[in-house]
This record gives sequence, C-alpha cells and structure tokens, in this order.
Amino acid sequence: MMNDFITDKKAELIYKGKSYSLPIVIGSEGEVGVDIRSLRAETGLITFDSGYMNTGSCGSEITFLDGEKGILNYRGYSIESLAENCSFAEVAFLLVHGSLPTREELTVFSNLLGGFALIHEDMIHFFDSFPVNAPPMSILSSMVNVLCNYYPEMTENPLENIDMMAARLISKVRTIAAFSYKRSKGLPLIYPRHDYSYCANFLNMMFDSPVNPYEVDEEVVSALNKLLILHADHEQNCSTSAVRLVGSARVNLYASVSAGISALWGPLHGGANQAVIEMLESIHVSGENYKKYIERAKDPKDPFRLVGFGHRVYKSHDPRARIIKKACDQVLGALGISQDPLLDIAREIEEVALRDDYFIERNLYPNVDFYSGIIYRALGIPSNMFTVMFALGRLPGWIAHWKEMWEDPNWRIGRPRQIYTGPVSRPFVKMEDRSCKSSFCPVEETKPGVHCPVCKQDVRK
Ligand code: SDX
Repeated sequence: MMNDFITDKKAELIYKGKSYSLPIVIGSEGEVGVDIRSLRAETGLITFDSGYMNTGSCGSEITFLDGEKGILNYRGYSIESLAENCSFAEVAFLLVHGSLPTREELTVFSNLLGGFALIHEDMIHFFDSFPVNAPPMSILSSMVNVLCNYYPEMTENPLENIDMMAARLISKVRTIAAFSYKRSKGLPLIYPRHDYSYCANFLNMMFDSPVNPYEVDEEVVSALNKLLILHADHEQNCSTSAVRLVGSARVNLYASVSAGISALWGPLHGGANQAVIEMLESIHVSGENYKKYIERAKDPKDPFRLVGFGHRVYKSHDPRARIIKKACDQVLGALGISQDPLLDIAREIEEVALRDDYFIERNLYPNVDFYSGIIYRALGIPSNMFTVMFALGRLPGWIAHWKEMWEDPNWRIGRPRQIYTGPVSRPFVKMEDRSCKSSFCPVEETKPGVHCPVCKQDVRK
C-alpha cells in the first residue's frame, strides 16, 4: 500500500538545543525522505521550499522517475518497453487500473472508448460562443469542465464508476479537441467512427472532410500512439499536482482535470512544445544563426530560455526526448519527408548546447517538448494544438493520480503553509488620511492647483 514506506529509521533535528527524531520513509525504488507530518506539532517549525524542489506531496504507485539516470517507469514498466509495444489505450488502462490489460479487458476498454466518443449535442453549441481565434487550451479546459453538467451521474460515486468515468473522459476529450479544431477552421465536424481505434478516430475527426476523404495511415497512427504514451504520466509535475490539489477538496474528476489543463498550458510546462516549433520556425524563416538563440539563453539579463531544454527532475537526459528524436526519422521517412529544416536546426542546437559549459553545468538537456513538435507538425497537427496533444496524452495520468488520491485512506485536503514577510500590525488609516500611491502623484512637490491624475486631489506635502 502507498503508506507502508515508513521505516523505523530516524533523522535527527536539533533546534534550540532540543533533539527531535523524524521518521525516514523509503520508497519501493529506494527513494529516501524525511516524514515531517508531525514537525510543526512537535517543534513549532514548518519547512520552506518554494517550488517544492525538495518536497514529496504524496506516496504514489503510478510512475517512477530517476532524474539522475534518466529512468521513467509507468507502474513498473519502462517507458521504452511501453512505447515500443503498446497502444495508447493499453497504457491508459495500465495507468488507471495498475496492470496491463488482458486481451478481453482491452477489448472492453476500447469498446467503452468507442462508445463514449460522442459529446452531448447541446455541447456543440458552446463552440459557437468561442471567438474563432480562441486558444485551443482555453476551449479544452472550459469544455472539460462543462462535461460535469452533462454527465453528473458519475460525480456522485466516482470510485464505483471510475472505469466508465475514465473511458468517458479519455474518449470525449479527444472529440472535443478535434471538434474545436474543425470549428476554428469553419469546417464541418467529422463525427467519431465506431470502427476506428482511439488514435485513428482522432486523426480522422481532425483531417477527414466530405470533399477530401482522409486516408488513415498506419504509420501516422503508430506515431501518434507513441507520442501519447510518452506524455501519459510524469509523477508530480505541475499539472498533475494541480489535479491532485484541486481534487483534494473533493472536487469532481472533470473540474480537477480542467484545472490540470490550465496548468499544462503554461510555456514553462506543456506550452513549451508549441514554443519550440515557433522558435525553430523563426530561426529558419529569419535565416539567423541559431547560435544567437543559444547565447540569448545563456544571458542572465535576457529572459529568453532555450525552450524544450531543461527539466526539474531529469539531470542527465529525458528518456522521452531520446525516443521522440529517434522516432522523428522513422515518421518523416514513412511520410516521405526526406528532409525537415526545423529538425536539422533542432539537432544542431542540441549538439552545440550539449557541448556548452552553461548547459553542462546546469544539467540542461532536451526535454519531451524539444522534438515532439517536429512529429506533430509532420502529422499535420497545427502548432496551436500541440499542447492540446500533450493534454490528450497526459489525461490517463491525471485520472490515475486523482483516483489514487480519492482511494487514499490518509486523504487530506491540500493546504500548504507559508512564511509571512509582509507589514506587521499597522494602525488603521481613515480614507481622508490615505495618500495616493500613484507614481503620477507629485506628493513630494507642492504645485498649487496641480491635481494627481489618479486621486484628482491637490498635491499634498
Ligand atoms: C515539461 O515536471 C515535469 O515532469 C514536466 C514535464 C511533464 O512531463 O509533465 O516533463 C513536461 O514541462 C517539460 C519542461 C518544458 N519547459 C520548457 O522547456 C521551458 C524551458 N525550460 C525551463 O524554463 C526550465 O528548465 C524548467 C521550467 C523546465 C525547469 O525549471 P527549474 O527546475 O525551476 O530550473 P531553474 O529555472 O531553476 O533553472 C536552473 C538554472 C537557471 O540558471 P541559474 O539561475 O542557475 O544561472 O538553469 C537555467 C536557469 O536560468 N535554465 C535555463 C533553461 N532552463 C533552466 N537556461 C536556458 N534555457 C533553459 N531552457
């Protein structure tokens, strides 16, 4: 079980001359932590760890990362073996249920995915209310939250219905993503087909047209399966932590996942895959030397970062980036793309950066987002949908973590503490005695008849 990693080993804390023993926890892969759940009660102390760089928020049986060795396992299976041998539906089942499905279980799960592929017809009217250039992640987050209005029956007893809820959400989010793309182009919606697999259905809903039938290409389906598998979970990353934190208040799965989608949207997180392609395209179009971007990334005064590089956990390499980089050649070759200038630029950037002390000293390597856009672009996915693709992949992981938290007998609402650094006990100031904080207010000068443009008052000494 998740909580039997507490050992009889202790860490000692000495504070104000008194010694405190804190239990040591050890995970199944040997990770060691200090259990501080009684710290404040025993010592009056809290820990301070902005960004949670050193803080474990939970015990989890879902995914294991080793940042130093570049290891990623889902439920004990290596990402390499899953990406090579499984379909995305198989891996989604594994993450949510904890074991690889038998053939019969996969058939049932796939049929559920197929059966749940439609969204309520009334939901389609929501697309008409979004501006045509609405960011796809804002549409996705909104529409996923709307699902709990149309399918409330699953929210009352979620764990009894988790199989159905998981299949329903994984299937409908795919349809919402494809429908939002079609609507953004003013094209007729293509409905899901009962005889297509998860990925084939998505591609068909995205690219089929009454006047230009889409031929599902098995190489493309295989590439999409692999990409979604590689994005399917990543332990306590920002968006998964958002799903857990929101869900910890006993919020339903749909609204919790909607929060995760919003967190993933960030350019420091899932939004990076789109930013990488935009960076590569601007280098290609401008004809500029890519080394300029590497120098900018190294300049502490320049806010520019080499998007697709760096990771909070991986300090050797991101195994997913290696798999995707290798898949680029396979997919481009299968699609008859003999040469991709953006891939060439990406490879040159990686080669130069990995020899540069600035990146070496900071353990900055390509992450999952650095090459993924090359493949999405080759599959015909528009760049403003890349982060939506990340969300489609990450969905089973979010569901698995939400379910694990709901099943945890030690469940608590997530509520971090803080160290207050603001003003201390100020006397109250009546309205008439309050001075304008506007930088326009020349309070230090006295110019009779001059009025502050904000508070409109005469200048005051
Ligand atoms: C994802 O957590 C996950 O698992 C996320 C994810 C998942 O599957 O869920 O793996 C998906 O989000 C991948 C990351 C996508 N984001 C990007 O590619 C954006 C660019 N990367 C950086 O913003 C950064 O590397 C982060 C956000 C990914 C990690 O940030 P950290 O861990 O807070 O590291 P940091 O900002 O403290 O950086 C440490 C040093 C700093 O330099 P110094 O102040 O020590 O001199 O490294 C530098 C940073 O300036 N640095 C970079 C850099 N990333 C870090 N310098 C240039 N380019 C970069 N990309």
